[in-house]
Amino acid sequence: MTQPPPLIAANWKMNGVESSLAEVRTLLARLHEKTGGPRVAICPPSTLIERLARLVKGSIIEVGGQACRAEAAGAFTGDLSAAMLADAGARLVIVGHSERRAAYGETDDQAAAQASAALGAGLEPIICVGESLEQRRRGEAVSVVERQVRASTAGVSSTAPMYIAYEPIWAIGSGLTPSLDDIAAVHSAIRGALRQSMGEAGLERPILYGGSVTPANAGAILALAEVDGALVGGASLKAESFYAIIENARARVR
Ligand code: PGA
Repeated sequence: MTQPPPLIAANWKMNGVESSLAEVRTLLARLHEKTGGPRVAICPPSTLIERLARLVKGSIIEVGGQACRAEAAGAFTGDLSAAMLADAGARLVIVGHSERRAAYGETDDQAAAQASAALGAGLEPIICVGESLEQRRRGEAVSVVERQVRASTAGVSSTAPMYIAYEPIWAIGSGLTPSLDDIAAVHSAIRGALRQSMGEAGLERPILYGGSVTPANAGAILALAEVDGALVGGASLKAESFYAIIENARARVR
């Protein structure tokens, strides 16, 4: 079984206009001629997907969306389908991010349906799960995340190219991260849940960590056994810090 390279994915959230592409130009210049590193993706706001896709064409950087609906088309003002993101140049899409679960009440069932829709449109979904601070304090982190993984992958083909991202809600944008032991424990529980629901194929689905990943902590987090990459928010907005995280991942590529 060949190990796929780790994925370092940027989640720009609601940040970025034309001038932000200068950061990507800097990143492209830094990555130029580097080979054998991790897979790198940037998920900008939808308005920049097409421009970013044009800019990074022919480079190692891939483009992703931040959310999609499960439906193919229809009366859903303001929303985008997976096929629209693919049409604009995306290769991946984040689904079930906790900010969408919180702001729009998106559920595990919807995340699973969106992941299937993404795969149908040729996109690789990054399915996000993670416990709240209260759940962690109650000692429920592992059970909550296992349940989310099972429900958010229900009906998704076990051989489909998809990622799980473990993002503890309290770690997102807070500067806080779980201990390395806690990250390792949840990732290993996710691996167990995937294996239970998908059989052997569950061993091959990469699991990302997200939540306050920085150049300072990326090396230690990415060195953990079941951590196959990172989903990076704040630290992905500047080329220098995102590049430093990518370089930390390079050490994991054999
Ligand atoms: P953060 O965000 O790196 O700013 O904590 C991560 C995410 O929400 O994907």
